[in-house]
Formats: sequence, structure tokens, C-alpha cells
Amino acid sequence: MTTVGFIGSGQIGSAIARLAIEAGHQVVLSNSRGPETLADTAAELGPWASAATSGEAAAAGDIVVVTVPVKAFLDLPAAPLAGKTVIDTCNYGPERDGHIPELDDTSLTSSELLLRYIPDTLLVKAFNNIFYKHLLSLARPAGAGDRSYLPIAGDSAPAKAAVTEFIESIGYSVVDAGPLADSWRQATGTPVWGTPYGPYSNEKGHSAGEDAIRAALATATR
Ligand SMILES: NC(=O)c1ccc[n+]([C@@H]2O[C@H](COP(=O)([O-])OP(=O)(O)OC[C@H]3O[C@@H](n4cnc5c(N)ncnc54)[C@H](OP(=O)(O)O)[C@@H]3O)[C@@H](O)[C@H]2O)c1
Repeated sequence: MTTVGFIGSGQIGSAIARLAIEAGHQVVLSNSRGPETLADTAAELGPWASAATSGEAAAAGDIVVVTVPVKAFLDLPAAPLAGKTVIDTCNYGPERDGHIPELDDTSLTSSELLLRYIPDTLLVKAFNNIFYKHLLSLARPAGAGDRSYLPIAGDSAPAKAAVTEFIESIGYSVVDAGPLADSWRQATGTPVWGTPYGPYSNEKGHSAGEDAIRAALATATR
């Protein structure tokens, strides 16, 4: 059993938490408003879920999922995240996050920007390219013919291995999409972002196999 800390417990964070609980992991949820606002969600997820402050969730996690708006990066608890394997689900959207020059001019990926705020972490970009309802509906056991693939990007091989093991445990296989510097290939608006799993209007989505994900990554342009 892995303890997964969540900094952010909104749409995609709570979907990952739900799959993690179903797979037998422990989750510690947090948000910006305080643990009391997550009591109902934690109770619904059962005895292996709890709510905490973001610093406590960071300290508790074997793996920590950062799943917040990019504009919240400056509030993240860097000290308790030091040394941790961290999953970054985040997408940059200037309409929500305000304009960030390094992201607008593509000199940095949003994951490289995140790493500036939490520099001592082993960061892996994952889950940013799938709609949360599709994430919930497309999870399948290992070996299922219609199991879907998710791209992951990161600079640490051990962290990627740990994240791969976690993702495989919750119903997906992975495609290694390279280092964090290449994570633009799975950023907002790229071919692998959302589209392979079907339109948002179909909440069930459809499976996306390894070839589809590799082809989408390969055709990304900047
Ligand atoms: N929705 C999707 O299907 C989807 C899919 C893939 C990736 N993403 C990306 O993943 C990230 C999260 O998306 P979402 O849709 O889950 O957003 P959301 O539903 O708006 O949830 C955001 C979460 O972040 C928390 N948060 C905000 N500021 C925080 C801070 N300073 N410290 C701790 N927690 C903070 C919020 O807590 P409060 O509510 O208490 O403020 C909330 O729990 C975004 O970057 C998004 O682009 C979303």
C-alpha cells in the first residue's frame, strides 16, 4: 500500500484519489480552504482516506500529487515536499492563471516552472492530459484488452518507476514521454491532450492504447 498525498483535491485530484482508494492505497487530501472542508469527501472515500493541511499531506505521502491551478504554485509547501516523488497534473491556462511570460513564450514547460517552486522534488508529469470523468470511467485491470495508456514525463528514472507502478495499480498503463523539458508534448492543446480518450461530451470516453498515445506525442508541435 502506498500513501498518496494530494495538494489540491478538486476534479482531477479527487478522481485520482478515488481510483487510489479502490486500488487499496491510502490517501491524504488537502486544499486551500482547510481539512474541515474535505471531511465529507474523505468520509465518502472510507477509512483509508483522511483530510489534512497541504503541508501535512506533503509530509505524509510516499507519492504526492500536486493538482492545483498553476497560479497556486507559489503557495506550495516546498519544505515537506523535499526529496519526494511528486506527480504534476497541472495545465497552464492564462484565462485562469493570468499570463506567465515563461509559459507564454514556451521557454519553460509548466512542469519546469513548478520545479522552480518545489526544487528538491522528483517531479513526474502525469494525468494532465485526461478529463477527470474519462479517468474514472476508463480505468481497467492489467491485461484488459481495452486498457488505456497515459504519458508520463520526468527526469528521475526511480521517480518514473514509482509513478508507473502507482498508475498501473489504479487501472492504466504508461508511455514514457521523455524528460520534463519534453513535457510540452502533452500540454494543453496538443494531440495527446484529451482527444485520444474521446470528447468531453461523452463522459464515458473511449480507450486509448499505446500506439495512439505514442502517435499523438510524436505529432505534437510547438
Ligand atoms: N479537471 C480536469 O479534468 C483536469 C484534468 C487534467 C488536469 N487538470 C489540471 O489539474 C489541475 C487541477 O485541476 P482541477 O480541475 O482538479 O481543479 P479544481 O477542481 O478547480 O481543483 C483545484 C484544487 O486545488 C486546490 N487549491 C487551489 N489553490 C491551492 C493552494 N494554494 N494550496 C492547496 N490547494 C489549492 C483547490 O482547493 P480549494 O477549492 O480549497 O481552493 C482545489 O482542491 C489544474 O492545473 C488543471 O488544469 C484538470
